[in-house]
Amino acid sequence: MTAIQPVDGLSKSDAVAHSPLLSVKDVTLQYKTREHIVTATYRVSFDVFQADRFVLLGPSGCGKSSLLKGVAGFMAPVEGTMKLNGRTIDRPSPDRMMVFQEFDQLLPWKTVLQNVMFPMLTSGRCKRKEARERALRFIDKVNLTKFRDAYPHMLSGGMKQRVAIARAMAMEPDILLMDEPFAALDALTRRKMQEELLQLWEDTRFTMLFVTHSIEEAIIVGSRILVLSPHPGRVKAELNAHQFSHAEQGRPEFGALTQRIHNMLFAERIEEEALSKAGAAHG
Ligand SMILES: Nc1ncnc2c1ncn2[C@@H]1O[C@H](COP(=O)(O)OP(=O)(O)OP(=O)(O)O)[C@@H](O)[C@H]1O
Ligand SMILES: [Mg+2]
Repeated sequence: MTAIQPVDGLSKSDAVAHSPLLSVKDVTLQYKTREHIVTATYRVSFDVFQADRFVLLGPSGCGKSSLLKGVAGFMAPVEGTMKLNGRTIDRPSPDRMMVFQEFDQLLPWKTVLQNVMFPMLTSGRCKRKEARERALRFIDKVNLTKFRDAYPHMLSGGMKQRVAIARAMAMEPDILLMDEPFAALDALTRRKMQEELLQLWEDTRFTMLFVTHSIEEAIIVGSRILVLSPHPGRVKAELNAHQFSHAEQGRPEFGALTQRIHNMLFAERIEEEALSKAGAAHG
């Protein structure tokens, strides 16, 4: 694990600056139904620092969404701790805003501007005038100024995701939680959205926890990547991916990292298949 530790000689305020914004330690998450218990993640640990683009990467069912639900405060760990700014997460709060994969996360009877203003008003975070100003600023940042009075049904999938991102960011949360926000988009739109998200990050340096099961997306969007094993999710590795954007996609280093992660994700399965084939051949 490559958590950044304060080094000797730093002042106390430096040490605070180097302490994690989000600290997830040995977290086991479970769903309990009347019939059985499903373990979604097993003793997962990671630290997210200010302005990290931290990606959770792993196969379907490895507990990525469950981890986001835990961080969002919708689900309590059965073991381990989750802390934001040193405080245990025990409920949802506007300091953690979520963007989902689904296009229907907007209120259909409200315009783009009203949708973006809505959580700021209902949470009491700002008064109407400030909410409107902030909303217009973030609508502009996601290039939707011309559509601010449109209703969701008049927008494409990519535009709806931009509204959801603007709505979450206008709340100025400590951390933006994104659960495969681009997975339901066509390849070209997805790529454009990744570029726009990175541009937005360049502008405002927010902190995000981004879930995907695409290796390429993880490398492009992420500054750090936590690779999770199949169900129940455990940490396989934590990697740096600061240096990669779309421009590097054709480069050998990008290909090498993709291959390395691919091997991590699929090596076990390949070994298992080889063993079972060998068993069948001898049987
Ligand atoms: N509400 C629930 N009740 C019971 N089990 C659940 C529930 N939600 C998720 N699970 C189980 O927990 C495990 C982890 O699910 P989770 O949705 O976190 O995975 P994921 O990595 O987000 O998968 P995907 O990539 O398909 O979205 C899975 O085995 C899933 O079946
Ligand atoms: Mg999921």
